Amino acid sequence: MRILVLHGPNLELLGRREPGYYGAQTLEEIDAALTALGREFGVDVETAQYADEEAYTRAVAETPGRFDGLIVNPACYTHTSTRIAAALAAAGLPYVEVHLSNPYAREEFRTRSHVAAGALGRVMGFKGDSYLLALRGLIAHLQAGRR
Ligand code: DQA
Repeated sequence: MRILVLHGPNLELLGRREPGYYGAQTLEEIDAALTALGREFGVDVETAQYADEEAYTRAVAETPGRFDGLIVNPACYTHTSTRIAAALAAAGLPYVEVHLSNPYAREEFRTRSHVAAGALGRVMGFKGDSYLLALRGLIAHLQAGRR
């Protein structure tokens, strides 16, 4: 089983960026925790980060046939990008939407998510642990589908 985690813009700044919202872990630490948790379940977890919408969209488009499911945090593009949402719909893989912060407890513009409607589930507000909770949920979903 293979799962791809796609981080959006500015998440390379984690650890230094507004720790009250995003926590103290760096992106490298979050990625290491994800691959370690995947290993515990015998699941191959790959991670990637893209700063621009085009690259993020292209990465989504390349997933069919290579991955069984996705974990996506499109960061600021969550709120603006119908392009990324359309690429996720076209890829047709189950995906979990993740946010480190709780967007609903912040500015109004963050309450709009273009990727929410197509998501298998959404996890937000647990800082770096949001990703690990999403990974557990996605693995359980994929395993149930194989039984
Ligand atoms: C974020 C929330 C977004 O509103 C914000 O633009 C981000 C990160 C989160 O993980 O909490 O860059 O997706």
